[in-house]
Order: sequence, then structure tokens, then C-alpha cells
Amino acid sequence: MTESLQQLLSELEHFGEANDSTITERPRRMLNITRDTGEFLSVLVRATNARRVLEIGTSNGYSTLWLADAACAIGGRVMTVELSEFKIDLAAQNFARAGLSPAITQEHGDAGRILAAATDASFDLIFLDSERPEYPGWWPDIKRVLRRGGLLVVDNATSHPEQMAPFIALVEADPDFTTCLVPVGNGEFLATRSAA
Ligand SMILES: C[S@@+](CC[C@H](N)C(=O)[O-])C[C@H]1O[C@@H](n2cnc3c(N)ncnc32)[C@H](O)[C@@H]1O
Repeated sequence: MTESLQQLLSELEHFGEANDSTITERPRRMLNITRDTGEFLSVLVRATNARRVLEIGTSNGYSTLWLADAACAIGGRVMTVELSEFKIDLAAQNFARAGLSPAITQEHGDAGRILAAATDASFDLIFLDSERPEYPGWWPDIKRVLRRGGLLVVDNATSHPEQMAPFIALVEADPDFTTCLVPVGNGEFLATRSAA
């Protein structure tokens, strides 16, 4: 990772902490992943050679920068989905500052509709960090667009266990998936789709 990207990530960490500690209105909060979660995502993308990455929940692009930097290093790219126009604009500025815009496609809209329109098996890794009550409804399309052998990573598995429980139960009941819980950051739920 370049020194300038390290500096931008640190700046966004300070901005996110200051912003979220003073602003209570959820649509204006950044709700970024933790730094160690970013490091974990970076390792996962590289280790699984995930060249086609989908992120649901861009916010101002902090987590996207970790994913895109790693994807770029292996010749890949990231599609990231966000509903809020305000946050899409913030993210676009951060992607440009990082020089990573060419490796990132920003999709503006509801993740459910964007997932429904996506092609089967079109992603190697999906990072889910959005409205948790929506996840069970999105599950059939998440499963469909994740390629065999692909990896699903879901944030907030330990910070919001009650909200995550219905989705985790659905995935764990699916014989096509092998799962685990990783105690990094706010808790990452991992599920890999069987290769055959
Ligand atoms: C937890 S934040 C994402 C934080 C980001 N991954 C990061 O770590 O920098 C969740 C985001 O999901 C967005 N969101 C909520 N509902 C959505 C939906 N139905 N479709 C797309 N994005 C949605 C919110 O606007 C919010 O920015």
C-alpha cells in the first residue's frame, strides 16, 4: 500500500470517529469498518485471488479503499453499491484522491434491486455491510451471484448478534456453504460456497 493511501485511510478513520461521535442521524453517520477489518479484507482478497469483488454498503468508501487496493494488486476490481447520494459523492471524492477510481464501479441504488439484476456467479467475493434486516431477503440473490468456491464476508456479526441471527441461521442451514465467525473488528461472518 502506498504512503498516500495509508494517510488517506488514517484521515478517514479520524473523520469517521469525529463525525459519528457527534452526529446521531443515521443517514449522516459513516459507520465505517474498523482498521483491523480493513486489513483482514485486504488479506482475504489477495489470498483467495478475488478479482471480482462486490461490496454492499459503500458509505464514504473507507472499506471500499481496502478492497480496491487489494483487488488492484491482483488485477481485479470492485463494484460497490450505495443508496445515499450524499455518501456516493463523498466516496467518489475519496476514490479519486486514492487514484483508485478506475478500479471501482459505483452503483447508486437499492442493493436488493441491484443484486436481482446481477448475473449468476459474477463475483468471487462479496462484502456485506448494509441494512441487516434486509439480508435474509437478499440471500437468494447473494447466493446466486457468488461463484462456486467464492467467499461471502458479513460485518457486525458480534456487534449486532440479534439483528444478524436470522441471516446467519439461513446461511448455516444451507448445505452448499461452510461458515465461521472471525473475532476481528465488529465480528466477521464468513461463508464460502462449495466449489462443486
Ligand atoms: C455500515 S454503512 C457501510 C460502511 C462501509 N462499508 C465502510 O466500512 O466504510 C451501511 C451503508 O449501507 C447503505 N444502505 C442502506 N440501505 C441500503 C440499500 N438498501 N441499498 C444500498 N445501500 C444501502 C447506507 O446508506 C450506509 O451508507
